[in-house]
Amino acid sequence: MNQIQEKVQLIRSERLTADIFRLTLASQAIAASAAPGQFVMVRTGTAHDPLLRRPFSIYQTSSDGTFQIVFKVIGRGTTLLAHCREGEELSVLGPLGRGYRLEQKGQNILVGGGMGIAPMLFLAKRLLKKTALQEPPQVLLGARNKEELQPMLVDFQALGVRVLTATDDGSLGHHGLVTDRLRKLHPAPESMVYCCGPKPMMAAVAMICRERSLACQVSVETAMACGMGACLGCTIPLQDGSYGHACSDGPVFDAERILWTL
Ligand SMILES: Cc1cc2nc3c(=O)[nH]c(=O)nc-3n(C[C@H](O)[C@H](O)[C@H](O)COP(=O)(O)OP(=O)(O)OC[C@H]3O[C@@H](n4cnc5c(N)ncnc54)[C@H](O)[C@@H]3O)c2cc1C
Ligand code: FES
Repeated sequence: MNQIQEKVQLIRSERLTADIFRLTLASQAIAASAAPGQFVMVRTGTAHDPLLRRPFSIYQTSSDGTFQIVFKVIGRGTTLLAHCREGEELSVLGPLGRGYRLEQKGQNILVGGGMGIAPMLFLAKRLLKKTALQEPPQVLLGARNKEELQPMLVDFQALGVRVLTATDDGSLGHHGLVTDRLRKLHPAPESMVYCCGPKPMMAAVAMICRERSLACQVSVETAMACGMGACLGCTIPLQDGSYGHACSDGPVFDAERILWTL
């Protein structure tokens, strides 16, 4: 894995909703080497507060040497990031971690929930390229409401993939959970389900896939400190009794390897 640490220029900062932002950052090296499901660690402040970088999935890359992240404002780090100005430089480390394993057999089903939608766009693009002669990926997206879902949804619709949506309040698509949408699909046995979202959602997706003997990969968004396997801050329990590092063994794991504790 080639990790790059560099000062990257913030080319564009877009406020997509009251608390969701999309940043376009310039880095030829990261844009050229990133794979879907990988992430970057971003230093959100210029001084030492907050000290630790924050992890964000790579939303998409471009051949013009830029990449994007999409994030929700949660605490101190993301608040600072939301206030960064275009032209500023940010210290970024990446691309990090193990991304999704792309499958060419069967149907590819992408399930994203909340900000877990972020890694799905890059994945959908790569799958479209890799499986050009096959059925396009089926994308299932869930969020709290239309406001949260719409800004990312339009990027998927622009790709021409089939998208099914669900919102908790029924303001867009199915009124309910994105897993309801997954339950209604009947994919061929050799299909692959790719998932990212809140832990209960991923555990539910993993269970549905296990019941139907479908392969499933999930991206776990455990809080991280170093992002490189050095601090043991991101351990997740595995079925075999051992622990994995979300940052370096993951963030993408085969769902059946994870010990799902809620
Ligand atoms: C691999 C990976 C990829 C990610 N990709 C994205 C992305 O694309 N878009 C996005 O919006 N977010 C993403 N996240 C989550 C994002 O990193 C956190 O929201 C961010 O670090 C919060 O930083 P903060 O300083 O604003 O909040 P903090 O002040 O650090 O935290 C505020 C509160 O949120 C809790 N918290 C922080 N991070 C997490 C977490 N990962 N899981 C559960 N609780 C947490 C803290 O415990 C605290 O209670 C990703 C996380 C990981 C590990
Ligand atoms: S974040 Fe330090 S080991 Fe994973």
